Amino acid sequence: MDPIRRHQLRETLRARAVRHSWADLVAAHGTPVLVLDPAAVASAYRRLSAELRGFGLHYAVKALPHPAALTAIASCGGGFDVATNAEIDRVRALGFPMHRCIHTHPVKKPADIDHAYRAGIRTFVVDNPVEAQKFYGRDRDLEVLVRLAFPNPTAKSDLSTKFGVEVRDAELVVKHVLDTGVAFGGFSFHVGSQGSTVQPYRTALRSTLELCDHIHRTLGVRAHTIDIGGGFPVSYRDSMPGIDRIATAVDEVLGERRGQFRLLAEPGRFLAAEAMTLFTSVVGTATRGGKVWHYLDDGLYGSYSNILTEDVHPPILAMRELSGSPSAAWGAMEPVTLAGPTCDSIDVVAHDYPMPPLTVGDVLVSPLMGAYTTVTSSRFNGIAQTPIVVSDSGDAWEA
Ligand SMILES: Cc1ncc(COP(=O)(O)O)c(C=O)c1O
Repeated sequence: MDPIRRHQLRETLRARAVRHSWADLVAAHGTPVLVLDPAAVASAYRRLSAELRGFGLHYAVKALPHPAALTAIASCGGGFDVATNAEIDRVRALGFPMHRCIHTHPVKKPADIDHAYRAGIRTFVVDNPVEAQKFYGRDRDLEVLVRLAFPNPTAKSDLSTKFGVEVRDAELVVKHVLDTGVAFGGFSFHVGSQGSTVQPYRTALRSTLELCDHIHRTLGVRAHTIDIGGGFPVSYRDSMPGIDRIATAVDEVLGERRGQFRLLAEPGRFLAAEAMTLFTSVVGTATRGGKVWHYLDDGLYGSYSNILTEDVHPPILAMRELSGSPSAAWGAMEPVTLAGPTCDSIDVVAHDYPMPPLTVGDVLVSPLMGAYTTVTSSRFNGIAQTPIVVSDSGDAWEA
């Protein structure tokens, strides 16, 4: 992480540390602990909604299914993108209107479709003929979107390898949807998570519009919905394209045609990332091969799981960088290894990472830990999930 980015983060986090009494929360709950600020979810929602003009936002519940995050989305008027029965049940248990949900898993059991339909969901996604056939004879108030695959080598996880039909084969899937008797709604895609350029949105949307015209000519059907998925990147240690640049690209491609479609998006990371901050402590320190190692009470199998699953590396600062004046108070930076708590060799969170001098008991802070952190953590070595404390209520919550 370059010093300028670190400086920016310190400035932002200092204000938050005071506003949310982070020192008191850590003293009360110990470490590791994740502090969740639902207002950050609402603020990211409002930012995205202002940029993606006219898009219905469906929060990808998988990123952070905490009730406080879901409540923040619902209170902003947002909908939900669900992929499993468990996610459906979670949204329903909170009493949110289920017609605001879309089911975006392209491969599911017929019983899962039944479950979602009974819950009130009417928009589904398929990407191949076998999945389309699972809708045969179902109620006609249900619509099916066909998910398209657009490879994105700049994304941290390129979802087009597992899901989506190539544009050249999409007409066949649309025909299968039409054969089932349910409504063909239109197309969806996901350009991959944490992509470093805007271009994939432009390319995918342009091809989708061409495909809409093509199937109108060949099959005589109109696509009413275009769902541009998620993937909107977050600046962790490095700067990523801003949402304004993605929105501009989307606007340019849609041009005069935006009024022809119901426009949807499925943001996960963008809405959740800023909402959680991790506090973890140094539990041990050693020098190995001339290098300094610090061992933390959270790691790759815990809250830092997105390093393992998607190669996404959050920033890490010492808590004392958030108070006092520079260097005199926190000491000169030196490159260290930060390791997690499990008794194996994989659990290393950062190599050659600049930190001020640290000793056992020092608290480290990682901002931007809301998305794909606890949800993809494991219980390896019997280590419990890091508790989440909601900053405005102080209640701890286990998944
Ligand atoms: C279908 C679908 N929609 C939305 C998302 C959310 O993506 P992101 O968190 O990158 O915005 C995902 C992530 O895996 C997904 O699979």
